[in-house]
Amino acid sequence: MAAGFADVLIGLQYGDEGKGRIVDAIARDYNIVARFNGGANAGHTVVVEGLNLALALIPSGVINQSASLYIGSGCVVDLAALAKEIQMVEAAGLSVRPRLRISPYTSIVQPHHIFLDRAFSSDIGTTGNGIGQAYADRALRMIAGELLNIRCIDLLQNEFSVVEQMLRNLENATKLYPSIERPKRSVIVQTISEAIELVRPLITTDPLYLSDAVEKGASVLFEGAQSYELDVARGIVPYVTASHTCAGYAYTGGDVPPKFHRKTIGVAKTIMSRVGKGPFASELGGTRSEEYCMAENGRRHNRDYEKKSYDAEKLLKSDDDFELGIGLRMVCGEYGTRTGRPRRIGVFDLEQLKKAVRANYIDELYLTRCDLLEHFRRTKRAEIPLRTPGSSDTNGTSIAFENAWELQNAQSLPRELEKLVTMTEQSCGVTVRGIGVGPERSQLIECR
Ligand code: IMP
Repeated sequence: MAAGFADVLIGLQYGDEGKGRIVDAIARDYNIVARFNGGANAGHTVVVEGLNLALALIPSGVINQSASLYIGSGCVVDLAALAKEIQMVEAAGLSVRPRLRISPYTSIVQPHHIFLDRAFSSDIGTTGNGIGQAYADRALRMIAGELLNIRCIDLLQNEFSVVEQMLRNLENATKLYPSIERPKRSVIVQTISEAIELVRPLITTDPLYLSDAVEKGASVLFEGAQSYELDVARGIVPYVTASHTCAGYAYTGGDVPPKFHRKTIGVAKTIMSRVGKGPFASELGGTRSEEYCMAENGRRHNRDYEKKSYDAEKLLKSDDDFELGIGLRMVCGEYGTRTGRPRRIGVFDLEQLKKAVRANYIDELYLTRCDLLEHFRRTKRAEIPLRTPGSSDTNGTSIAFENAWELQNAQSLPRELEKLVTMTEQSCGVTVRGIGVGPERSQLIECR
């Protein structure tokens, strides 16, 4: 039988590009959808026929019931978060457990990882899921006879000693950092034990599970979490996540040899956003916006605060980019899926995108959130601003509005979107395969 292949899909900006909905749309073309990096820090929203699923660890291919699902060794798994998510998705009527397998080499996010992250990572503005600490302990392996890197395979061998080790690691962390807040030992034990019971049967004993499947003919879609600019080594360090988000890592973290690679798919959104701190060249309002959005690690000026405090339509008319950014965030609903943290807003940055496309050698690109560009029609300049290669700020170039938009198919694309697609293809040297014009499955227009 002929061997199968793997495609890799990644976000090319700062996360939240809408990767989940693209994966959902193309998942029918694959036998298996797999995660290769990150953990419950990812927030992938998939909307299908009235069902709105906020996924963190389960691959976004879950809605396509014919695809199998896999979590690779490059991921870190919070057992309690995964168990809860499986129950949530199953309660929505989808099958998960019969289809999901987890690599035995995946590391486990332990309680002390989460408590330390929440206590000490506000300088980066992390999601507070213990991701950095889990990857750090994976690299530390063992210190003074204490096993720090606990993996899924350990749960298959001696669950009792795994829980004991996690509690000892927590005790040791509290000795070093007495101020960290944590629930009682008995609560932790109960939560972990219940989660282990649900997750353990999904752990495969075979580290070559996915690789063998591809060799026997299966097609795999690797789904990246976070995005290129957040790569732990190649992103804007230290304002990055703790895993590799670039396309090449799919094969290390996804447990398939690179021999089977077919193509690389990128996703970028046309009104950009970033959560957490760090440089963001096309941000509307620059550092003022960054400081405002990150006050109290995003909790002060959250969705509810802005809804109570501002009139979005008024802000859209403002001359001040900072205010325009708030107005756009409100009308586009750009807040953290679970946290309500405000996402920093920026104009579409072709300079940044060009670099990300080159660095990952993207074969085809999807542009998302294109319908939202029409909000710029109500701004004072009434045009779509873009940052173009060579420009230093948000005022690279712009696309003026002509007629009212109807967003139905590639043949009747508004002229403004046609221009945007052509400019993107020319400046980034990549084919735009499709554009998202709304959250529903039917609102993805194939271009080429
Ligand atoms: P961590 O991944 O929780 O350690 O957070 C590190 C940085 O990555 C912070 O700036 C987070 O806001 C950002 N980040 C992590 N996951 C996502 C995501 O799914 N979307 C957007 N940003 C993310």
